[in-house]
Amino acid sequence: MKLISKSSEGLHGEIKIPGDKSISHRALICASISDGTSKISNLQESEDVINTLNSLKQLGISIYKKNDSYFVEGKGFRGLKESKKQLYFGNSGTGIRLMSGLLSIQDFPSSLTGDESLSKRPMKRIIEPLIKMGVNICGSKENTLPLQITPSENIDGINYEMPVASAQVKSAILFAGLGAQGDTKIIEHSTSRDHTERMFEYFGASINYSEKETVLKKTDKFTPQIIEIPGDFSSSAFFIVAALILKNSDITLREVGMNPTRIALLNKLIEMGGDIQVFNHSSFGKEPIADLNIKSSVLNSCEVSSDDVANLIDELPILFVASSFAEGISSFKEIEELKHKESDRLKAMQAGLDKMKVKNFLDGDVFCIEGMGKDFKSPNFLAETFYDHRIAMSFAIAGLNSSSSIEISSPESINTSFPEFIDLGNRLGCNFEVS
Ligand code: S3P
Repeated sequence: MKLISKSSEGLHGEIKIPGDKSISHRALICASISDGTSKISNLQESEDVINTLNSLKQLGISIYKKNDSYFVEGKGFRGLKESKKQLYFGNSGTGIRLMSGLLSIQDFPSSLTGDESLSKRPMKRIIEPLIKMGVNICGSKENTLPLQITPSENIDGINYEMPVASAQVKSAILFAGLGAQGDTKIIEHSTSRDHTERMFEYFGASINYSEKETVLKKTDKFTPQIIEIPGDFSSSAFFIVAALILKNSDITLREVGMNPTRIALLNKLIEMGGDIQVFNHSSFGKEPIADLNIKSSVLNSCEVSSDDVANLIDELPILFVASSFAEGISSFKEIEELKHKESDRLKAMQAGLDKMKVKNFLDGDVFCIEGMGKDFKSPNFLAETFYDHRIAMSFAIAGLNSSSSIEISSPESINTSFPEFIDLGNRLGCNFEVS
């Protein structure tokens, strides 16, 4: 497959963004361990989420689709059945890390693996706290995949101070906490996304959470639920930035997730001068949603501090693109977590920005981008994406504001999180050509 993103005259129209990836994983997993049948609407049908769905099926859970909704027949916290085959999570850190927590409290062994990119990602961050809880888990010598989990006699709740801001690590601990003796307490210095906490609460868990502390208390069961998944804010981010940087644009995105631990990009773009209206506030379960209207804007530079990073971690690549078309020097502090994503996103973005002829440099732990201003057009080039969906979509958006086009390498990665990106984008006026 080949994707060429050609310059566009502007974006117009209104779309509904498909379901949120983080919430989709959690909805499937929580429904599978509830006591009965849950219904999930607007599930993200990406490769990452489907890999989690298939692994749950492999573990004996019946999941089927009827009239656009998914029905999950939950079997309780310990109702999963051993899978004779290794469980495969493709590209998804969320899928494998959350399921590791849950599989830690089952009375059968499991082996978990993923694709080439996932196989390079650090697993020590979950292995360490799970071992502290009494889980028998190990990875390769380098603490990478595959992960092997064997049953443990006793799993205890822990008091865990998070060494990195990571919702995946926090969630692995919380899923293991469902089968632990005693409370599980997690302290965060920087608040990571709280979808697991909200979903646990929705399913009836005894859980208290605030910005810095989460406490899961003895919970005997989850009650099955009807779940509607909000539109994915991280997917929306690409079209939000596209509409801001492209002249003559005016788009509306409906029912987008507005969880405060996810929308730091929105606040940043508004601070930069972005014309973004947020309206029709409502909620799906415990998750806030709203509609967004975005119009072309002249953007100023931004300053991202270490406090902002966790809540816009997945949006940094597209914020780098927005900063390239802004006036002035933008700065991003303590963003090294970017190196541990689906690719080394800092390296991948730097390589692409260099080809765009946008000056960028590291000053200690601060990454800087010299914005080229609103009239800048990117030169034509081939963007190397390292099979990373967010790198691919970021440069696809940059291509819309190019002197003619940007070609995107391995665009198939986009299917891991946003298979509708090309079609929805073209419906809004993007000029994505696939061959
Ligand atoms: C996610 C958490 C984040 C994020 C990822 C999804 C989640 O990872 O980058 O895309 O659903 O919990 P970390 O928790 O490792 O930062």
